[in-house]
Amino acid sequence: MKKLDIIKKITQKKEFSQLPNKDVLLAFENFNNDNYSDIEKIKLSRNLLRKIFSSFSSRKLLSFKNKEEAWFLNKHLSTRERFTHYEEIYSRIFKGMNKNLTVIDLGAGINGLSYPFFKKIGFNVEYVAVEAVGQFIDLMNKYFKINGINGSAVHLSLFELQELKKILKKSKKPRVIFLFKTIDSLEMLKRDYSKQLISQLSPLCDKFVVSFATRSMVKKKRFNVKRKWIITFLEENFEILDGFEFSGEKYFVLRNKIFKKDL
Ligand SMILES: C[S@@+](CC[C@H](N)C(=O)[O-])C[C@H]1O[C@@H](n2cnc3c(N)ncnc32)[C@H](O)[C@@H]1O
Repeated sequence: MKKLDIIKKITQKKEFSQLPNKDVLLAFENFNNDNYSDIEKIKLSRNLLRKIFSSFSSRKLLSFKNKEEAWFLNKHLSTRERFTHYEEIYSRIFKGMNKNLTVIDLGAGINGLSYPFFKKIGFNVEYVAVEAVGQFIDLMNKYFKINGINGSAVHLSLFELQELKKILKKSKKPRVIFLFKTIDSLEMLKRDYSKQLISQLSPLCDKFVVSFATRSMVKKKRFNVKRKWIITFLEENFEILDGFEFSGEKYFVLRNKIFKKDL
């Protein structure tokens, strides 16, 4: 089978039909060698994509029925764990910043529904979500529209670096980038890509916030060792403005160093 036909086959399953081509292609490249038959390539690519894009959400999330944002935030694993701490988390991140700012939320999931917490702590935020799962994009955009929120959700792969830069450059300053609990997903498709992403985008923002789970979301066990490579990278290459942990999620608030070596 030709490469394009295999890609088409992979996305024939409804759950993958709305994923950006770039991510599907990267998943496929992991298995595009002589060790696997075409059928195996399709199966393995789908398994990997499922691991990255389907495991964090509840099916119920994908049907929008005008429910309160709290209902949704409590249905999605990442936002549920963060729910009672949002005000504290956003207050720490925005500390010392102008009350009018832009947030660019990379791999947002449904985190755009936490918008009321920005208001609660007195910040007027222009919010832009970037996310690969089309259903989350629809959900957030409907939510912004219904509630008259200054927010938008863009359907784009985080591997489209040039497009991400365009989005950033178009937005008003000061800018804060969120990359919450998404590093593991990026690394599954392309090793060390998180380093490239953070290094290339950090000069375009005032603060870059990276978070990751310190314990397995399913088994609740801590896994510090697994995180050493990224923590070392952040400490060596960026100015760390703050670091804190809530409900099994560790946050690093970073700023670009002026003289930083290019990756
Ligand atoms: C664990 S969830 C975290 C969601 C959100 N950041 C939060 O913490 O509430 C990871 C999210 O990253 C998204 N994602 C993973 N890889 C992506 C990619 N290459 N491009 C865009 N989004 C991606 C997934 O679809 C998923 O919504």
